[in-house]
Amino acid sequence: MQPGRAPLLTFNVLTLFPELFGPFVDGSIMGRARRNGLIGFQAVQIRDFATDRHHTVDDSPFGGGEGMVLRPDVLHSAWTSVDAPDSRAKGEQLTVYLSPQGRALDANLAKRLAGFPRLILVCGHYEGVDERFVESCVDLEVSIGDYVLTGGELPAQVLMDAVSRWVPGVVGKERSVAGDSLEGGLLKYPQYTKPREYLGRAVPDVLLSGNHAEIARWRQEQRERRTEARRPDLWTAYGAPRKGGA
Ligand code: ADE
Repeated sequence: MQPGRAPLLTFNVLTLFPELFGPFVDGSIMGRARRNGLIGFQAVQIRDFATDRHHTVDDSPFGGGEGMVLRPDVLHSAWTSVDAPDSRAKGEQLTVYLSPQGRALDANLAKRLAGFPRLILVCGHYEGVDERFVESCVDLEVSIGDYVLTGGELPAQVLMDAVSRWVPGVVGKERSVAGDSLEGGLLKYPQYTKPREYLGRAVPDVLLSGNHAEIARWRQEQRERRTEARRPDLWTAYGAPRKGGA
């Protein structure tokens, strides 16, 4: 617990569907991090900032086309309700818009975002958001992959999960996230637990040897082999055929 202290990282999420965040932010690792005061979360209902009687948040695109576009004035009001100009000026706040047009989320970006005390995440819907909002309020557009989802809520949750793991204390003091898949640019080695034999397959002897140096060597070799076979892009970026420890 960190009584009385501000969370290390607070997420302010602008969304039309705040209820989609409930089980995610209350459960599992995120829930524990919130209860421990490490992570803060606040959802902002964009619709609350609509000014007309019907609470309209979107309209059809100028120039024609399918779908609806979120209005910049409504989004701007919602954003202003959480924007902290002083923090922003000090580089302690970043506004991220989740969109397929954004920069691809990877481990390096997640680690960098974890260094901000506050992230404002904007979830779009329909055909997107008015570009003037993006130009005036958004610092970074982030995509979670080359596919189009129906809204930014799942991408926001993916980003929150990937980023929170880098906040000290969130995944447990003893454990380092540095050994995880993709850290150091390699996939993770295979893992085994009880029983020692299952469906005729035995756990590799080296893992039962108690020889930690041998185990570390074996795991590094497995990481390299897997990366080379499954992700030639990562393998090339890693600097193949560089060997472990080099
Ligand atoms: N919104 C819709 N699709 C998305 C994606 N692939 N990444 C981020 N935000 C999105």
